[in-house]
Amino acid sequence: MTDLQQATAAGFKSRFAHAPDGLWSAPGRVNLIGEHTDYNDGFVFPFAIDRRTVVALRLRSDRLIRVASSFAEDAVELSLDHLVPENLHGWSAYPLGVAWALGEFGADLTHVPGFEVFIDSDVPIGAGLSSSAAIESAVAVALNEVWGLDLDRPTLARVGQLAENRAVGAPTGIMDQSASLLGEADAAVFLDCRTLDAEIIPLGFDAAGLDLLIIDTNVSHDHATGGYADRRASCEAGAAALGVGSLRDLSEADLPRAATLLDDETFRRVRHIVTENQRVLDTVRTLRDLGPTAIGALLDTSHVSMRDDFEISVPQLDLAVVTSREAGAIGARMTGGGFGGAAIALTPRELIPAVRSAVSEAFASAGYVAPDMFVVRASDGARRDTAA
Ligand code: GLA
Repeated sequence: MTDLQQATAAGFKSRFAHAPDGLWSAPGRVNLIGEHTDYNDGFVFPFAIDRRTVVALRLRSDRLIRVASSFAEDAVELSLDHLVPENLHGWSAYPLGVAWALGEFGADLTHVPGFEVFIDSDVPIGAGLSSSAAIESAVAVALNEVWGLDLDRPTLARVGQLAENRAVGAPTGIMDQSASLLGEADAAVFLDCRTLDAEIIPLGFDAAGLDLLIIDTNVSHDHATGGYADRRASCEAGAAALGVGSLRDLSEADLPRAATLLDDETFRRVRHIVTENQRVLDTVRTLRDLGPTAIGALLDTSHVSMRDDFEISVPQLDLAVVTSREAGAIGARMTGGGFGGAAIALTPRELIPAVRSAVSEAFASAGYVAPDMFVVRASDGARRDTAA
């Protein structure tokens, strides 16, 4: 067992005074490219990372749910009979929201037994690495098994998304849960968010001597408030004004017409989504044809589009991107929903120390809070960690 698995099992025992039925886990994710395209029915290209959330869970013989975690003092108790989004608050809305959302996808919540769950994680919170999707996906695979639901992974991703949308109140798309549930080692998930068709594409970073460095700016963000929902609303307004169901239906050839019909800000929001969808397709093709050393320019262009057209970057992210490129990264961009969180820098392995120290120095000179930096590897998606 890993340290994290041991700590989770021990945490469960100390809270609930008996052993769990099993351990399940799910990873955080990093998005290589394809930002804010998911809720526009577009393309994304994330991968599951080697930072996980582990849940220890045991069924009860009554209808009570008890949730506890290493990151909150309070344990929360609720009967399955009162499990509605309006009753869910704080961190426990993630695991409890998943239990509720399973009911929306076919689980008969009037008959299933209650459960106890303890959650521990080494996915950093607020870094844009989907600590929330990791909780949702780990709880979803656990309950799917112990409640005997037999839902497939794309459906479990929709369960996690619904929990996030309704129980947590963040109007997010399907990318994070899909990456956490479908990811595989050394590969990324090329997902069509309209059809939910997913293709696993080998990344080949190791063979090319590349590492993906995460630069967590420690600028915190919250997608349940503010900018994220505004961007989503602009995309919907742009699609409506252009007479399409979603921005996925547009290509770069439609942009001149869009420029004449939309106000400048809405046009730039639309242009980001349309060009970003194309960049995802180009990245997947380039990776296949030429390998990962050839995708750097696409990452750079994606960042510029998010900074100037979609306007979801912050000065700390821009500094991380510019500095890592100058110090030898072959491509860099902010990743995730934006307004804070992390940047990624695809970097030749031998240059990682140089990039790290250049970024540290640049942040110190600018008077910014020191960033956290670490390398992530593409890893397996959600799974059961202990034998059944
Ligand atoms: C957040 C959301 C995702 C996606 C990204 C932006 O991570 O949870 O659904 O929209 O932002 O690409």
